[in-house]
Amino acid sequence: MKRIAVLVSGGGSNLQALLDAAKDGDLPNGEICLVLASRADAFALTRAENANVLGMVRSPKDYPTREAYTEVLIRELQAMNIDLVVLAGFLFVLSPSFCEVFEHRIINVHPSLIPAFCGDGFYGLHVHERALKAGVKVTGATVHFVTAETDAGPIILQKAIDIEPNDTPETLQRRVMEQCEWKLLPRAVSLFCDGKLKVKDGIVQIEE
Ligand code: GRF
Repeated sequence: MKRIAVLVSGGGSNLQALLDAAKDGDLPNGEICLVLASRADAFALTRAENANVLGMVRSPKDYPTREAYTEVLIRELQAMNIDLVVLAGFLFVLSPSFCEVFEHRIINVHPSLIPAFCGDGFYGLHVHERALKAGVKVTGATVHFVTAETDAGPIILQKAIDIEPNDTPETLQRRVMEQCEWKLLPRAVSLFCDGKLKVKDGIVQIEE
């Protein structure tokens, strides 16, 4: 059984998708052991409590530097023998040391088809605003392993949807979440826990 920690900052709908997958038996080889929030008012903490999962708050504001905050998180996760860290709307960029300690054991979900609309400054509604501005006809979501470079780690899964003529950033965000993110993330986490993800030369191979 792989021990999973989910790091969150906000609503936690992706966390909910994982909790639902676990409840439905779609995560047979994984256990969500910890939800760690960067803010005390993150609704994701309520979702964790409702699912009887341990919730913890560690705010970057309580630490003098990014490095100090990162070190605390590493210690907490190691103390709980965490095998997999899932970033599900975690709005804080951790130090590179985090990626070294948990190399190929950190999964992030991003609301675009990487390498489009990603990197520094591309988060939340901004991603969808930029996609609409660019006039692309498809967008989607990507689940990838995290490396020190933002949104640039090995891609695990992607799913595309069409952009509709009347889409706003809000409608697009909703459809990308419902149709892409909430499906891809539990699937990728399950594949990881089943030991089916291998990274070779920066490319993820899925052993089915
Ligand atoms: C999602 O769009 C995710 O792709 C991005 O942050 C958002 C988090 O939403 N990384 P939620 O907190 O899971 O509802």
